[in-house]
Amino acid sequence: MSEKQKFYIDTFGCQMNVHDSEKIAGVMNDYGYSLTNDPKEADLIIYNTCSIRQKAEQKFYSELGRVKSYKKRNPSLKIAVAGCIAQQQGKEIFRRAPHVDIVFGPQNIHLLPDLIKNRQKVAANHDNQLIAEHDLPAMRNSGCKAWVSIMYGCDNFCSYCIVPYTRGRERSRPSENILREIKELAEKGFKEVTLLGQNVNSYTSDTDFPGLLRMINRLNGIERIRFVTSHPRDLSDALMSAISELEKVCECLHLPMQTGSTRVLGLMNRGYTYNEYRKKVVKLKDLTPDMSITTDIIAGFPGETEDDHKQSVDALREIEFDGIFAFKYSPRPGTVASDMEGQLDEKTKSARLAEILDVQDSITLKTNNKINNTIQEILVEGPSETDESMLTGRTRTNKVVNFKGDKDLTGNIINLKITEVKRHSFTGVIL
Ligand code: 5AD
Ligand code: SF4
Repeated sequence: MSEKQKFYIDTFGCQMNVHDSEKIAGVMNDYGYSLTNDPKEADLIIYNTCSIRQKAEQKFYSELGRVKSYKKRNPSLKIAVAGCIAQQQGKEIFRRAPHVDIVFGPQNIHLLPDLIKNRQKVAANHDNQLIAEHDLPAMRNSGCKAWVSIMYGCDNFCSYCIVPYTRGRERSRPSENILREIKELAEKGFKEVTLLGQNVNSYTSDTDFPGLLRMINRLNGIERIRFVTSHPRDLSDALMSAISELEKVCECLHLPMQTGSTRVLGLMNRGYTYNEYRKKVVKLKDLTPDMSITTDIIAGFPGETEDDHKQSVDALREIEFDGIFAFKYSPRPGTVASDMEGQLDEKTKSARLAEILDVQDSITLKTNNKINNTIQEILVEGPSETDESMLTGRTRTNKVVNFKGDKDLTGNIINLKITEVKRHSFTGVIL
């Protein structure tokens, strides 16, 4: 019998892409290929790409240049480009990188085995209306936490964002399929699920998002439920109540604010004012006092004045997020904002980003300190990547805690006392 063909995947970008790579791996595994961690021995190299900011795109193209020489060594090697750049640029990728054989978008993962059989170069970046109905097998790495897609695409068209163009229209999976997948995960020993969607809380099929959370909360074996990413406009009272009432739904929410300036929020087409955002955060914390809230901020959106920027900084001080992800505005071709007047220079954007990160640093430390010396429930994920002698896990609020303990605890939920607060993690002792 001939040896199995091997594939290698390099993943860029967000959790959505990480999970898409699990699906690509699942599809290829079913097709008879085996996964390798060494691109040099692969018969198929797949790049799962991200186009959210220019930097991610540049990183991919420089990586792609590097594998050109592999083809000389192995002429039958196929190179495939998946993900958001594939969707957006399609055949154009063949022109920029003639050593690429296959291009397929996030909606066409199921086609990969057919695309491989094709002798000619092929680009599959068409819309797939059935994406939410057709489930793909996912090859998951970790044994206790799993990503589960519940909806695909985004209809919001925030003026800076490429996602509605790369991921297509919003489509939600039927609840029955989601529940079936999560039940199977529970049977395999998974304890935590993170529900995924570009705009996860606008989920709507035979039930709405709070309804779906209530259904998942009833499943035996699953102990923790998380979800990303939520849009502030779709954060309803019903969802806030569900978060506070359902014992398995964790006390943490990633709620991208983008800017503290209501004027800029308008230019961004976000659909809420700063005050509306702030009021929702206050309500959330009233209902669920331990709630950890994180956000995304864009620095230097076109037309952002010094005063708008100051409003973002003031908002960080007022809201006191547990953590933020902040980015310099990056013009994406085809989006409304990329053609707006008032594009700022790199220096201004960098300076504003630096100030935002600096201000948030001390706020993060302050919010982190609030849980020092408290007892926290941890899902043990296994040995720490940076220090083999330590185990690592996360609190319900999604904070990373390192501690000494037996490897056999992996996959268990235990109680810890937090003994040290660091910049990006905590140290604890088992009780
Ligand atoms: N430039 C900078 N940041 C962006 N984001 C999305 N598009 C852009 C862009 N063009 C950020 C937003 C979003 C996060 C995933 O990436 O903050 O919430
Ligand atoms: Fe992009 Fe806005 Fe959709 Fe998020 S909600 S993916 S920022 S368009």
